[in-house]
Amino acid sequence: MTAKKTKPRAVENKQPADLLTLWASRVVIGLLFVTVCWWLDTIKERWYVFNPTELHELAQAAIASASSPNDTAGMIRHIVTNLTLTHPSNKIKLNVDSSEWVFNNAGGAMGAMYIIHASITEYLIIFGTPLGTEGHTGLHTADDYFNILVGEQWAFRPGALEMERYTPGTVHFLPRGTAKQYKMHEGCFALEYARGWIPLMLPFGLADIFTSTLDPITLYHTVRVTGREMIRNILIGKI
Ligand SMILES: *[C@@H]1O[C@H](CO)[C@@H](O)[C@H](O)[C@H]1NC(C)=O
Ligand SMILES: *[C@@H]1O[C@H](CO)[C@@H](O)[C@H](O)[C@H]1NC(C)=O
Repeated sequence: MTAKKTKPRAVENKQPADLLTLWASRVVIGLLFVTVCWWLDTIKERWYVFNPTELHELAQAAIASASSPNDTAGMIRHIVTNLTLTHPSNKIKLNVDSSEWVFNNAGGAMGAMYIIHASITEYLIIFGTPLGTEGHTGLHTADDYFNILVGEQWAFRPGALEMERYTPGTVHFLPRGTAKQYKMHEGCFALEYARGWIPLMLPFGLADIFTSTLDPITLYHTVRVTGREMIRNILIGKI
């Protein structure tokens, strides 16, 4: 949620009138901002182009069409070809350059991603690593559908004493506002679809660069590709 939390404390009677006006206008602007955010949040569905069920079917079809269970490249080709055919480029912009991978460090986990689509309300990426990784999913302002293509993802939330296990063809759904510990025990690649407020997810996606990896090349390419794709979509009215 984007709700602004700061609320001015009660203004004391002794304070000058102009200070009262100042705080009154701040409160009004604050309330207006919260109202606009709330309103945008109730109508965000109108900007969604992808459908989680269709993407799940597409992920399963990609696995079925691959030459072997570890043919990640073939699966990605299948997915991108299908999306290009089923989604007209005047409705949504896709990045068909599947050689455009960047590292992603977030929540202590490390992998690489290929951004197929990024806009204000949706993103679709291939994320994974052939090595395995483990970390915090992040607490997000978007619903997240993690369609496993190759390998396994394990997950756990406090209170659960056994792990959840996601295998190729299954989808790990993480509703917005929830977080888990996850692990790709060995190599794993997934088609990850997120819908909600994507820009608010970016701080989590970039924080490890500033606090841990200090990798300006990855920062540059992450910002370059994400920004480019978001702008390409805004220019055709895809929010
Ligand atoms: C795209 O994939 C879906 C799900 O597998 C399938 O139903 C559809 O026919 C495919 N479309 C094209 C044009 O390949
Ligand atoms: C996929 O698995 C097969 C058989 O297990 C193996 O021969 C091949 O090298 C693997 N390919 C990749 C890309 O890992």
